[in-house]
Amino acid sequence: MAVADRIIVPLDVASEREALALVERLPQVTFWKVGLELFVSSGPGILEQLKQRQKRIFLDLKLHDIPNTMAGACRAAARYGVDLLTVHAAAGKTALVDCLEAAQTGAADVGIQPPQIIAVTLLTSIHARALAFELKVSLELTDYALQMALLAQESGLSGVVCSPQEAAALRQVLGSEFALVCPGVRPAWAGKNDQQRSMSPADAMQAGATYLVIGRPITAAAEPAAAFEQICQEISE
Ligand code: C5P
Repeated sequence: MAVADRIIVPLDVASEREALALVERLPQVTFWKVGLELFVSSGPGILEQLKQRQKRIFLDLKLHDIPNTMAGACRAAARYGVDLLTVHAAAGKTALVDCLEAAQTGAADVGIQPPQIIAVTLLTSIHARALAFELKVSLELTDYALQMALLAQESGLSGVVCSPQEAAALRQVLGSEFALVCPGVRPAWAGKNDQQRSMSPADAMQAGATYLVIGRPITAAAEPAAAFEQICQEISE
């Protein structure tokens, strides 16, 4: 896979108009992330627009519901021709297995490839104290995230979202085929923003990331296209 195809840029904007302006500004970007805010505000029209431009799509909806409802959403998302789709591992094995099957059915309905289903193990907004005292989970945070990743793998999912800090350890346990999708990536020349424990693109790749989700260092740069090129260059070196 070419380096540029391993960088996913989030469309963290509130309207289809703003999203398409960003896409036009960055023709080199081949893989875009559509998250909840944009999907809820623009509807599936944005997916069609991206497909028309031959872009790959990471539909980051982080689905979490009863198995039947999650499966229905996966079936529908697969028909749009998205490439990656997120669900919460904590929904449980039945839900994950059903999601996988539904995505295959949805894609087959329209004669296309199914998306890779990617699990969210634990939201980074849940810190150790919240896990223990609010969610009443007695495992250590990293162990819980690992257990959720193993559950996703056992259920047949294609990968997990994880911090680049966890990538090396997960890669070792989960093997070379499992996809690790890593946000929290910052080149040395970019501001950290709200990413506390970030890692450089080259280090994250070295640690075993399959895809890097990199937003503001590219989208908020004075010259976004140059920033994207610079990141590709750094990874290739
Ligand atoms: O601008 P930035 O590079 O921080 O954007 C990272 C993207 O990855 C955002 O869309 C953000 O919501 C997402 N993300 C994250 N940290 C997580 C999970 C997702 O930054 N733990």
